[in-house]
Amino acid sequence: GSTSGSIDMELLKEKEIDRNRLQCGQLLGEGAFGRVVKATLTPPEEVDLEVMVAVKELKDDDDPQARQALLRETCIMLLCGNHDNVLGLKGICFRDGPLQLVLEYAEHGSLLHLLWTLRAESKLNRTVLVNKRHIFENMMLEVCCGLEHLATRRLVHRDIAARNILICGKGTAKIADFGLARDVYAVGYHRQDRGDALLPLKWMAPESLKNEARFTHKSDVWSFGVLLWEVAQLGRTPYPGIDGADRIYDALQNHFRLPRPQLCTEERYQLMLKCWKFNEETRPDATTVRKLLKADPNGFF
Ligand code: ADE
Repeated sequence: GSTSGSIDMELLKEKEIDRNRLQCGQLLGEGAFGRVVKATLTPPEEVDLEVMVAVKELKDDDDPQARQALLRETCIMLLCGNHDNVLGLKGICFRDGPLQLVLEYAEHGSLLHLLWTLRAESKLNRTVLVNKRHIFENMMLEVCCGLEHLATRRLVHRDIAARNILICGKGTAKIADFGLARDVYAVGYHRQDRGDALLPLKWMAPESLKNEARFTHKSDVWSFGVLLWEVAQLGRTPYPGIDGADRIYDALQNHFRLPRPQLCTEERYQLMLKCWKFNEETRPDATTVRKLLKADPNGFF
């Protein structure tokens, strides 16, 4: 609805950061419309005390639609509030220059990148998998906590995937990239805007893939199931060889699911299958998924 897309400028002004306090550095990541660079933020007054941050900016700051989208993303992060397992927003620069979203810096980068590194390591030495299993189990519990928090704030993320989980210095997993997130407060669920071009099809629940394009907390749980699969597959891409929303939807409707990864237990695969119940009503919520994960702490590798 229109209320879920509105931008509260008063809220934004409270989080304004003077861009002179930012010193931008190397590129951390790049998307279709924006990029993220590493930067240092100097606190007001204390000139020598800097903190590392990540700055998200637009490739084309003159594009009014892109600006609107980044402002919406900022508002959603503000609505989300602080939680240990959601990437923090430090503030925003919007005066006298380009829009710059100042985010908490995640020292270890994305979970997807970490999984690729682990895959390379495990080729040399299989024992690293069992040795590091508890780290990934813990990260998945943390993502569940983050999802539970989003649910209490009535936010649907819509893009839960290993690429959007960032890992901070202490190894804490944080849900990031609210570019596709929606505030569902007004209507309880969200119908996809026409013209949303790039969608994470292989992470989407059937009801999100279908024409009605419905995204709810339960479709985030579906995506979480795909995230579990990504971890067990050490960062491989799901459904190799299947492309297009219609083909994925047809496969799912015909009871096809991602196959069981070799590196997980039957019990862990059963949990993935629960997340991939075709009917969202019968899918568990994030709290239930977290309890099931906790009850089976050696499900990966
Ligand atoms: N890549 C994208 N966002 C990032 C962040 N906040 N910290 C580190 N790397 C990132």
